[in-house]
Amino acid sequence: MSNYLLKNGRILDPAQNLDQRGDVRIRGGRVAEIAPSLTPETGERVIDCSDCWIAPGLVDIHVHLREPGQSHKETLQTGGEAAVAGGFTSICCMPNTDPPLDSPTLVREIVARAERESPCAVYVVAALTQGMRGEVPCDYPALKQAGAIACSDDAFPVQSAEVMRRAMLGCAAYGLPVVTHCEDKTLSEGASMHAGVVSAQLGLKGAPSSAETVQIARNALLAHETGCHLHIQHLSTAVGVELVRFFKAQGVRITAEVSPHHLLLTEAACAAFDTDAKMNPPLRSEADRAALAQGVLRSVIDCIATDHAPHAPFEKAQPFPAAPFGVVGLETALGCVLLWNSQLPQPLEPLRIVHLLSTAPARVMGLPAGTLAVGTPADVVVIDPNLRWTVMPVGEANSMLPSSPRILSHRTEERESESPQRGRGVGGEGITVIELRSKSKNTPFKGWELLGKARYTFVKGVLVHQAD
Ligand code: DOR
Ligand code: ZN
Repeated sequence: MSNYLLKNGRILDPAQNLDQRGDVRIRGGRVAEIAPSLTPETGERVIDCSDCWIAPGLVDIHVHLREPGQSHKETLQTGGEAAVAGGFTSICCMPNTDPPLDSPTLVREIVARAERESPCAVYVVAALTQGMRGEVPCDYPALKQAGAIACSDDAFPVQSAEVMRRAMLGCAAYGLPVVTHCEDKTLSEGASMHAGVVSAQLGLKGAPSSAETVQIARNALLAHETGCHLHIQHLSTAVGVELVRFFKAQGVRITAEVSPHHLLLTEAACAAFDTDAKMNPPLRSEADRAALAQGVLRSVIDCIATDHAPHAPFEKAQPFPAAPFGVVGLETALGCVLLWNSQLPQPLEPLRIVHLLSTAPARVMGLPAGTLAVGTPADVVVIDPNLRWTVMPVGEANSMLPSSPRILSHRTEERESESPQRGRGVGGEGITVIELRSKSKNTPFKGWELLGKARYTFVKGVLVHQAD
C-alpha cells in the first residue's frame, strides 16, 4: 500500500472544526498526521495541493445502484466509479432494485459484492415493506444483522398510515432510520412533472406540492408518536421546508436532505420536454427552489444528497409522460453545489460546504465517515474548487447545447451577461470538458459549465480516482 503526503492544501474538517493550511499524511491506509508543514518521508508520494481543499471524502446517502436486476443502467462497480470520480467515498444504495432489497440474503449479497466490486464504501438501505408493496413491514432485526443501515421504500412510498406506523415502530426498536420519499400517490397519480405554469403550458399532468407535503406531515406525526428517526429524502417544496422546521422545533427526530438539482433548477427545465429533467419529486417553482436554498442556509435542511438515478438512453428517449423519473448526480453534485454557492449573495464558507456533503450526511446515517481525524481510515478528497468544467455525457458531444443560460434563475442570467466566460459551451477556450463515467448519462446539466471538481479521491488510503 502506497503512502501519500498531501502538501499545502486548505484542510477542511467540519468534524474537528478545522480550517487551516497545511499537509496531510496518509500512511498505512489511515490519516497519520496533520500539520502546517510535514517533511516527506522515503517512499512517500507527494501531491501538491496548492489552491485545493483537502477534505473528508464526500458521502452520498441517496444513490440508486440498480443491482440486482437493472445492470444496464448502473452496477455496483460503475456506480462506485462514478462516485469516486465525483469525490464520494461512501454511498448508500437504495432498495428499489429488481428484486427489491427486502431480505437479509439480498442485503448480505449486496454488502459482500460491493466490498469486492465498488471502489468506494457502499452501505445498504433495505426495503421498509416486503416487496416495497407498502403492505407488510420487513423483518428489521434480520435486515440489520445482514448489514442494512436504514430502511426505505424510496420510489414506492408507503401509502397506508397504519402500515407506516408499524414500520416505524419496528425500525425504532432496532435503531434503523426510516428514510422516506414523501408522496401521496392519490395526489400525484399519472403526473410527470410539477403542477404549475409549465405543466399547464405543456399540457402535461402535474403533481401538486401537496403530494409531498401531506406525506411529510403524516410521516413526521407518526415519527413523533413512534420515536423513530425519520429522514426525509429530496425535499422539493417550500412548505416541506417549513414542515421540517416545525417538527424539528417540536423535538421530532427528523432530518432532511435536498438534491443539487432541486437547488439549481426549476420546472422551467422541463419546458422543452427534456426527459433528463424529469425526476420525482419534480423540479418545482422558483419560489420552492429559493425556499430550499434558505432551508440549507438556515440549517433546516441537514445535508445534500444526489438521488443518483441512472436510466438508459432508450428509456429516457420515450415521450415525456412515459420516460422514467430520475437523473444521475454523483459526478455533477460537487460542481453543482459550488456553482450554486457561488451564485448566493453571501456564499457559504468552504467548511460548511464540506459539512453538507460529507460530515452531515455521515452523521444523519450514522456512518463511520466525514472526518479527517488522525487514526481514522483515510477517506479523503482533494478538491479543486475553482476548476470550471463542462459536463459531457459520452457520445452526446454533437447534440449538446449550452443550455444553462435558459434554465438558470434570473440572478444567474444577470451574471451570465456579467461574465463572458460563461455559457460558451462545449470545448470553449479554457474550459475543461469532462465525460461522465456513470453507465447512464441522464443529466439535466449536459453542456453546463460547473464549478469545482475532485482531483484525487482516496478510499481507506488507496488512490481510487485521479483527475487527468
Ligand atoms: O427520480 C426518481 N428516480 N425518483 C424516484 O422516486 C425513483 C428514482 C429511480 O429509482 O429512478
Ligand atoms: Zn431515490
